[in-house]
Amino acid sequence: MTRVLGIETSCDETAAAVVGDDGGAPAILSNVVLSQIAEHSAFGGVVPEIAARAHVEALDGVIEAALAEAGCTLSDIDAIAATAGPGLIGGLIVGLTTAKAVAAAAGKPLVPVNHLEGHALTARLTDGLEFPYLLLLVSGGHTQIVHVEGIGRYARWASTIDDALGEAFDKTAKLLGLPYPGGPSVERAAASGNARRFAFPRPLKGEARPDFSFSGLKTAVRRAATELAPLSEADIADICASFQAAVTETLADRVRKSLERFRKEHAALDEPALVVAGGVAANQAIRTALEALCGEEGFRLVAPPLKLCGDNAAMIAWAGMERLAAGLAGDDALSFAPRPRWPLDEASAPLFGAGKRGAKA
Ligand code: KG4
Ligand code: ZN
Repeated sequence: MTRVLGIETSCDETAAAVVGDDGGAPAILSNVVLSQIAEHSAFGGVVPEIAARAHVEALDGVIEAALAEAGCTLSDIDAIAATAGPGLIGGLIVGLTTAKAVAAAAGKPLVPVNHLEGHALTARLTDGLEFPYLLLLVSGGHTQIVHVEGIGRYARWASTIDDALGEAFDKTAKLLGLPYPGGPSVERAAASGNARRFAFPRPLKGEARPDFSFSGLKTAVRRAATELAPLSEADIADICASFQAAVTETLADRVRKSLERFRKEHAALDEPALVVAGGVAANQAIRTALEALCGEEGFRLVAPPLKLCGDNAAMIAWAGMERLAAGLAGDDALSFAPRPRWPLDEASAPLFGAGKRGAKA
């Protein structure tokens, strides 16, 4: 069996995992994720310096725990894969430097991995999905649709022109005084709210271009909250439900454009697939809307289990394993420098305002 140790430290999760492949179905042998939510919650968001320090303190123990849980030692590991970008530079340095040290000391190959590629390839680990497929990546730092043709072969078809979707959830939560991280808080509050009370905008809905926009929605939420202040619990629930309804409707409208394009470009595929990945993919209302959209368009929706939606190291180990198997692990990995900005599709120019929070997914 080939075993790869994965390390992920690009944002506020310190994570290590071991993935094994014996030629049959790949297996997650361990998946340890230590969240820093408690460290950052007082600040209402991730503080880069606090994150970097917390990674330094936790990473060795998290790696040990991942090896122990997988029932192996470093000598049973065939390669080490670590997130080398995009993300917060402090965390990337901690994870990649640790990975280099472990790889050099154990005499194992190192594979520097693009965090977005980890999200992009997760569906092949969990569902054995074949190329090509369409990926909707929705997280705190990214909202994009990527045409996934093969390992390292990605074309961005659509992107946000302003805020990422997770960022819109986080800002809405903050505005309403709901706890960080915002996405789950908004989803929880929305469950008891009236989605029809506020007619929030559906940005770009009906437009021919396939891109996304969420900043107008956030502004509309702020206006409603300011007008109503002080907010009752019912007001907050209604705003969250109305916000989530606007998000799901506009998301489905935007994603449909790319499904139609994929369908045209791959007319021979019997059952084309849409993969949804990234932290926001944990949202049940969004999953339900995408499920309905895929049903209408003749697509299969592949959504990873919740613990593989958010940041984790199993996806990094798996991307490393895929790269090794494809002969694309890269040369000279020990001198690879972390890349805070590292688009999956290097050929596509960033859209105006997109990813301004730090190109993190
Ligand atoms: O991919 P991810 O774990 O990491 C980064 O973006 O760094 O995504 C985190 C994002 C946050 O914005 C969080 O609020 C959002 O995913 N999120 C959600 C939900 N769970 C997490 N958004 C909406 N609904 C959720 N249930
Ligand atoms: Zn991510």
